[in-house]
Amino acid sequence: MSPYQSIRNCWYVIGFSHEFETHNLTGHQVAGKAMVAWRNQEGNMVVLDNRCAHKRFPLSEGRLMDDGTLECAYHGLRYNCEGQCVLIPSQPDVDIPKHAQVQTFPVIEQDGIVWVWPGNIEKSTERKPPRTEEVNSDEWESIDSGPMHVPANYLLLIENLLDITHFYPLHDGNIGDVENSYIPIQYEEGEVDGNKYIKTVREVENYTQPPFLADWFCYDLVDRNHTHCMMSPGLTRVVMRVAPPGKLGSDDDRGYVLLHTHTPIDDRNHIWRWCVNCRKDHMSGGNPNMSAAQRVASMFPGVVDEDRWALEKQQEMVDIPDEGYNELFLKPDKALRRARQIFLGMLREEQPQAAK
Ligand code: FES
Ligand SMILES: [Fe+2]
Repeated sequence: MSPYQSIRNCWYVIGFSHEFETHNLTGHQVAGKAMVAWRNQEGNMVVLDNRCAHKRFPLSEGRLMDDGTLECAYHGLRYNCEGQCVLIPSQPDVDIPKHAQVQTFPVIEQDGIVWVWPGNIEKSTERKPPRTEEVNSDEWESIDSGPMHVPANYLLLIENLLDITHFYPLHDGNIGDVENSYIPIQYEEGEVDGNKYIKTVREVENYTQPPFLADWFCYDLVDRNHTHCMMSPGLTRVVMRVAPPGKLGSDDDRGYVLLHTHTPIDDRNHIWRWCVNCRKDHMSGGNPNMSAAQRVASMFPGVVDEDRWALEKQQEMVDIPDEGYNELFLKPDKALRRARQIFLGMLREEQPQAAK
């Protein structure tokens, strides 16, 4: 069974809360499911199948009426927030059939992020979206990238995020730092809210920061704690904490919480969003007029472009049948190997026939 498929029984991000203005329709595709989403007059998120029950016209191209119903732009059928059709303009004298309806999708808005569940609705209470408290906190500055389309399976991004040995050469001249590769890795695994996670921990003492990190987080010589955690197939959380030697865990801590959300469109495309969070009162060392979060966010697009290029190229090779190919696993690949096992376990659970 290939791990490069879209898991459906999972919560995925369709956007940050600020992307959903009241009464604004947005179209999404998540794990092969077409969705229309909006924030209704009460401020709640509504997510329906985007295919009109009449002729599959995308409802996201329609409009919201004053009474809160959604009007399809093709023949004008109107739907309420439960997905039930409440008006068929072309046959006003006929009762609306019960099956004139579209599916609703479970949606949770939590910590400034909107999550949807494209899978089996009955299973949606078995897992919860991971927490992202920094995004909505008064103590943190939070900057996010907006949606970025990547023409590659989303597991390739997760594998990339769990593996920092690619900083050299992929990010050479940018955040490239071959020293990173020599730091010993510890691993942690577990389960939170129904989501199996895998985490790498890299700790160093008396470490000379490369210039870009001194620019972001001020200090030249530090003790450092750096973790990468696939919290679920929908979110990877990266935390870096640095402080002068002997001071880690004190008020001198600097660093970031970097959230990466990866939402499969289908098996070979996904939407990637990053969100950098730094303490509000932390300024950049290299540019004291910029906050630390702004400084990191200003440098990030260049790094991300390099990763997207690599993922797209990898996908082209993943598309070629495996015959004659033996994948090599190196010591630092332990976490991404575990991530693949977690993916395969979830895929087998929801596709028992395919797993045989
Ligand atoms: S396709 Fe929507 S009303 Fe006909
Ligand atoms: Fe990278």
